[in-house]
Amino acid sequence: MSETVPIKEHPPYSHMTAEIYDLLYANKNYAAEAAKITKIIEDHCESGGNEILEVACGTGTYLGYLEDEFTVEGFDLSPEQVAAAKQRLPEINIFQADMLNFNTGKQYDTVLCLFSSIGYLKSKENLDIALAKMANHTKPGGLVLIEPWLRVEDLIPGYISLESGSGDGIWVSRMGTHTNDGKISTLNMHHMVGRNDTVDHFVEVHELALYTDEEITDAFVKAGLEVYIDPEGLNRRLFIGKKPTT
Ligand SMILES: C[S@@+](CC[C@H](N)C(=O)[O-])C[C@H]1O[C@@H](n2cnc3c(N)ncnc32)[C@H](O)[C@@H]1O
Repeated sequence: MSETVPIKEHPPYSHMTAEIYDLLYANKNYAAEAAKITKIIEDHCESGGNEILEVACGTGTYLGYLEDEFTVEGFDLSPEQVAAAKQRLPEINIFQADMLNFNTGKQYDTVLCLFSSIGYLKSKENLDIALAKMANHTKPGGLVLIEPWLRVEDLIPGYISLESGSGDGIWVSRMGTHTNDGKISTLNMHHMVGRNDTVDHFVEVHELALYTDEEITDAFVKAGLEVYIDPEGLNRRLFIGKKPTT
C-alpha cells in the first residue's frame, strides 16, 4: 500500500533542529577548525586575554572544542539551537539573541561568527550593523573572525547539496537545491527524518546573502577594524578583523 506523504514547510532552524543539526554535520571537522581558530588567535590577537564570544553559535560545537583553552560564551537567534547548545555545554553562558541587536555589557578578546551565519542577515545594511555590534564587543587588540557564505562566483550551476546521518533510532537525509538572483542565494532544503517506523518530510527555505569581498571588507572598515582575508580559512575564505590598540 502506498503512503500519501504531506510535505510541510518550516522556518530555518526551528522544526527538529536540535535533534538533527548535529547528525547532518557529523562529518564536518569542527575539531580541526577549532585548532585553526586557536592558532589564528595565538598568532594575531593582542588584547592579552582569552575570552571568546561566538555569535550565531548554533548547537555549540565550536564552543565545545574551544572551552578547554578559552573562556567562551555564545548566542543564537534560534531558541531550538540555543537549547541544544545549553544541553551540550550546561556550564557555559549561552543565550538567545539577534546579532543585529545584542549587548552582553562586556568586551571579548575574540568574536567569532562562522559557517555562513552572517549570510542570514541578507542585506549590506544589516551586515554593517552586525559588524559594528561585534566590534563594540571586541577589546582593543582583539579579533573579529567572520566566515561568510559563498560569493556568486563560487556557486556551481545545478548543484544539489546532500547531507545525511543517523543516531540512536533516528535517520536523517537532506537534499538542497540552490538558486540565486546575484545577491541572495535561496536553498530549498528537503529533509527526511525517519524514526518509529515513520518518515517525516519537510522543507526549509534558507536565504543567504552572496556578499562580495568588497562589501565585507567595507563593513569591517566602517566598524573601525583592520581586516585581512585568509583565502584558506577554516574551509573557505575567512575575514580576520583586528581592533586597533589606539
Ligand atoms: C549554519 S548555522 C551555524 C551555527 C554554528 N556557528 C556552527 O557552525 O555550527 C547558522 C546559524 O545562524 C543562526 N542565525 C541566523 N540569523 C541569526 C541572527 N540574526 N542572529 C543570531 N543567529 C542567527 C541560525 O539560527 C543558525 O544557528
